[in-house]
Amino acid sequence: MQTINHSLSLKGDDLYIEGLRAADLAERFGTPLFVLSESHLRHNLQRYQHAFAAHWGEGEVRIMPAFKACPLVAVRRLLSQLSCGCDVFGPGELEGAVRGGVTPAHISVNGSIKDANIIRRAIDLGAQIVLDSPRELQLCIEQAKLAGRAARILLRLKPFMAELETHSDFVPELQIREMTQMIKYGIPTSELMAMLPSIDGNPHIDLLGVHVHMGRHSKKTEVWQAWVRHCVLLMGEIAAKLPSWRPQIIDIGGGFASFSDRDTDVAVQGYEAPSLEQIAEQICTSLRTALAEIGMSGQGICLELEPGRGLHGDTGVHLTRVHNVKHESQHRPRQWVELDTSEVFLAIGGLNFSAPFDYIYANRAAAEPSETVDMVGQTCNAELLFHQVAAPQLAAGDTVALLNTGAYIEPMATNFNALPRPGTVLVSGAQAEMIKQHESVNEVFSRDVIPERLQGDIVREVSNHG
Ligand SMILES: Cc1ncc(COP(=O)(O)O)c(C=O)c1O
Repeated sequence: MQTINHSLSLKGDDLYIEGLRAADLAERFGTPLFVLSESHLRHNLQRYQHAFAAHWGEGEVRIMPAFKACPLVAVRRLLSQLSCGCDVFGPGELEGAVRGGVTPAHISVNGSIKDANIIRRAIDLGAQIVLDSPRELQLCIEQAKLAGRAARILLRLKPFMAELETHSDFVPELQIREMTQMIKYGIPTSELMAMLPSIDGNPHIDLLGVHVHMGRHSKKTEVWQAWVRHCVLLMGEIAAKLPSWRPQIIDIGGGFASFSDRDTDVAVQGYEAPSLEQIAEQICTSLRTALAEIGMSGQGICLELEPGRGLHGDTGVHLTRVHNVKHESQHRPRQWVELDTSEVFLAIGGLNFSAPFDYIYANRAAAEPSETVDMVGQTCNAELLFHQVAAPQLAAGDTVALLNTGAYIEPMATNFNALPRPGTVLVSGAQAEMIKQHESVNEVFSRDVIPERLQGDIVREVSNHG
């Protein structure tokens, strides 16, 4: 047996996901199919909990997985059982967190342009509201008055890392300090200080702490150190204006590198990331040092983290089966292996020539490659998923597994060509359960509305050209 990662292994020709043969899952549940491993998710979560708890003894460490990365209610219920909070964006995700059984006080309602409805819902639930603008503070005050209950808020900061010149892995020509200022999220620093008088002593507002989220601009420790330090320095400026205030929570958001380090969306790839344990140590040390710099003790401060890709990325695979193989032997010899999946289910698009996924011939893993093929997806796009790659002789029904699809892939699937989107299965040991149904064609058209005048038998208008 050959181990690939915590949940995947090879036995002879076969890929196994925990105790189950991938090709059997494909047969039983149908393809294309997303498959998640419960034991892998539990394992990753434990790594986050241990890595940060080992270095932040001052207070609680609370893991608040980002709902957007893996928005499945069953997964959320599992994370809730494992005492996680939840970062949500918008009313849909907030509802998902509620259905997923998250302790309401540990839901963090993030995102820009929150309206009065979501703020009221968050106040009624007793959730944390992460403010993105002065307007949201006013909405909180108004809604808290109406609800007769204080709004529990964090201020989302936009720290400026003045001395940091490191460039972004997303856009290598730009510096991270510029991008974190350029991108919309967070309260503009110039507006932040002007909000404080409305918070100070306001019975409708309970200022719990501060929040930052940088995103996966870099895996370098110096970037995390600067980010945390400048967050705390800005928090120090807030504390100076609110002398009786002490933060209960510092939330440093997500943006941690995935364990597989095979992200599909960053331009700069392939350099070694420090381990999560090393990053955790750097973050906690920087936090402690910066707090000392502003004359504040960390004692009792809860450290919140919102991993998305880092937590979920390598817990999932995408299974697809060969639909057909076409051969051209004239002009330009070529073989096309037509898969039943698509770039539109995989959050990629355009003429990629190489989809950014590792893959395994899941029932032919030990077979010697004998062909050079293009593996293509099923829509009317060119769908060059894997261009001129080595393969064993493949036939209709063979299964291919794309790895590291546990985060941000399933929620980005679209209905191009009126294709129903794939369902998801959760594997735990030798057990597999459908946790999101395959979409049906009826569901694809379920939002269409036919005005009365276009209903009934079609009455064809006489053509001018006839
Ligand atoms: C506020 C917030 N927290 C956490 C995350 C998760 O980020 P990642 O998946 O990079 O860890 C995001 C992603 O956009 C976010 O906006």
